[in-house]
Amino acid sequence: MPAPDRRPVALVTGPTSGIGESFARRLAAEGHDLVLVSRDRGRLDALAASLAARHEVACEVLPADLSRREDVLRVAERLRDDERPVDLLVNNAGLGVNQRFVGGDLDAELRQLDVLATAVLVLCHAAAPGMVARGRGAVVNVSSVAGFGPMGSYSAAKAWCTSFTEHLAATLRGTGVTATALCPGFVRTEFHSRAGMDVGARTSGWWLDSDDLVEDCLADVRRGRVLSVPSRRYTALVALLALLPPGGYRARLLSAGRRRTGTSRHD
Ligand SMILES: NC(=O)c1ccc[n+]([C@@H]2O[C@H](COP(=O)([O-])OP(=O)(O)OC[C@H]3O[C@@H](n4cnc5c(N)ncnc54)[C@H](OP(=O)(O)O)[C@@H]3O)[C@@H](O)[C@H]2O)c1
Repeated sequence: MPAPDRRPVALVTGPTSGIGESFARRLAAEGHDLVLVSRDRGRLDALAASLAARHEVACEVLPADLSRREDVLRVAERLRDDERPVDLLVNNAGLGVNQRFVGGDLDAELRQLDVLATAVLVLCHAAAPGMVARGRGAVVNVSSVAGFGPMGSYSAAKAWCTSFTEHLAATLRGTGVTATALCPGFVRTEFHSRAGMDVGARTSGWWLDSDDLVEDCLADVRRGRVLSVPSRRYTALVALLALLPPGGYRARLLSAGRRRTGTSRHD
């Protein structure tokens, strides 16, 4: 993304902790003005004040609950404002619903899907036309390695996020605008404690540092990479999952169905 003739502006969702906070801190250190979007006004204000004082950048605070359609549309409006263009959109806000799907709380499932998928779709839809018209810009959608396998409604939403970002990147090819899906594994943030998840000792050795993965991701964005998978270990895991031969789980599901039902009416 070539440097604009003004300070570049990044809009980051979910900057009040974890990966989003690492994005906000890194981008401010690199000289971006910021638009900070999440629910916790107190934490947004404190972050904005600290980044503005430390890096002499402008920080705008836009409190919004991205599970609420009217709030998402307000953020979309900010992204469409051609007078104050946004050069980098980081769709990072997220949560995990820690419950069994069958018999679980439907509202919690819908909130998760709205933040992880609907808000991402609406904000990309709002940001992309202005970026294309300006001939520069980038979108980062924070997805997950969980999206590469069937592990519940969270992983299904992340599979959507990765697939959608791949499609967006293909659509944007040749426009000067890029789209990147960041697919981390376990990262030390507030994510698991907020969800009340105990991920256990078996995961030790698999944890990533959010500052490191953000630094690597922004390097991938500059290279125009569509997929950013941090660490050799997770890259190998994702490559392995992608390369599974026709013995992969979908092929097994298909052949299992065929064995039970015999030929179909369409054969
Ligand atoms: N940690 C991991 O192991 C891991 C692995 C792979 C992918 N990810 C993904 O990484 C992203 C960031 O997660 P994290 O690990 O940094 O978690 P985190 O520390 O819990 O941070 C989540 C951020 O999302 C914001 N947020 C949550 N619900 C929101 C809502 N309804 N509206 C607006 N903002 C909301 C929170 O801000 P407020 O509370 O201020 O609203 C917070 O800033 C998520 O998309 C997550 O799925 C995490």
